Amino acid sequence: MRLIGNKTKLVPAIEDFLARRGVTGGTLLDVFAGTASVARHFRGRGFRVRSNDLLWSSYAVQRAYVQTGGVPDLSGVLATAPVRRFRRPDDLATVLAYLDDGLAPREGLVSRQYAEGGPAGRLFFSRTNGLEIDAIHGQLLAWRAERRLDDDGFYLLLALLLEAADRVANISGTYGAFLKHLQQSAREPLRLRAPDLPLAGPPGRATRMDANLAVRRTPVDTLYIDPPYNHRQYVKNYHVLEVVAELHTVDDPAAYEASIYGKTGLRGFEDRLSSYCRRVPRGRAASCEEAFRDLVAGARAEHIVVSYSEEGILSREAIGRALAAAAGQRAYDFDRDHEELSHKRFRSDKDGQGRAYKVLEGRSKDEVREWLFYVRKPRARRPASRRVAVGAARA
Ligand SMILES: C[S@@+](CC[C@H](N)C(=O)[O-])C[C@H]1O[C@@H](n2cnc3c(N)ncnc32)[C@H](O)[C@@H]1O
Repeated sequence: MRLIGNKTKLVPAIEDFLARRGVTGGTLLDVFAGTASVARHFRGRGFRVRSNDLLWSSYAVQRAYVQTGGVPDLSGVLATAPVRRFRRPDDLATVLAYLDDGLAPREGLVSRQYAEGGPAGRLFFSRTNGLEIDAIHGQLLAWRAERRLDDDGFYLLLALLLEAADRVANISGTYGAFLKHLQQSAREPLRLRAPDLPLAGPPGRATRMDANLAVRRTPVDTLYIDPPYNHRQYVKNYHVLEVVAELHTVDDPAAYEASIYGKTGLRGFEDRLSSYCRRVPRGRAASCEEAFRDLVAGARAEHIVVSYSEEGILSREAIGRALAAAAGQRAYDFDRDHEELSHKRFRSDKDGQGRAYKVLEGRSKDEVREWLFYVRKPRARRPASRRVAVGAARA
């Protein structure tokens, strides 16, 4: 899935950075998991992975790639005659073929609120794809209610729906805006794609909570920290996927839909606003720096690795200071434990139209650096059990 800060391209370098410090296995917590690209990569390398994020959309993907033991049991669904008619070489392919081609289009929240021709006038999806997303989502909910799908099966299929919807979304980069006209990729039909499962490592555990709480609840060998680095709240930039991902938790769908507002169809999402997107504290909510210091102090991991954009709210020195304090070092050893990776800047359409980025000397236009930090936290500095975390996620 498209996500600001997706580490798919950088994860081999992160693996190498850790391997040079002797970390080649064990347990690893990806505490700001997003698309779960890092958790998935390390599970593929045989690590026992835990993952976490504030968002439901991330949780669905984490369940699919971190927590499942392989393709879940789909026998309840395969027992129904309409699905059996789509027989393919394996169970998952059969179910995906039915969801893609066997359902009648159906009007629902997505087609009304986010698709072409809907009363809300928001052009995030073509009419056909909006109706298709509603039809597939409705079918998943029905199978779940009939107990034909367990949680593993439900979240895997929901994750594949979110990934498919994202491929045909009429956006450039984020859901902070939709494009005025349907772009070519948004005119393509929505298709579900089967992932490669199972992954090499053992099944892990996915959670959806504030990172500062998750690190205290989860003792691991290695903690990977990839927080938001600027003021753009993820939940507001990926809200359309978040709505689809959380719909199964909603008691009153009509009231929920009525709470959707504004040009892009946002919701309140107060519980999912992140302190890591705030330079200064607001009310009882911590600033990014306070939240980060608290996070690494509370970490119950021997190895901590952090990735952070050089364009982020936190300075290199602030990160180094927090890591040194957490590990009981007098000063952070930048020569030994800090590196920079070079990569291409993430640009959303909005950026392309208006935002001018400073080009640093000796750099190409879109080159930006990602900082990597490592610290070893001695056992005596690791909290033995969870303590109360600062209000890192409160609005
Ligand atoms: C830079 S992205 C992570 C990208 C991820 N490594 C990937 O490759 O897709 C940051 C993630 O942190 C999550 N997040 C923000 N604040 C959080 C918090 N306080 N606790 C847990 N997750 C949070 C966001 O929802 C977002 O998915």
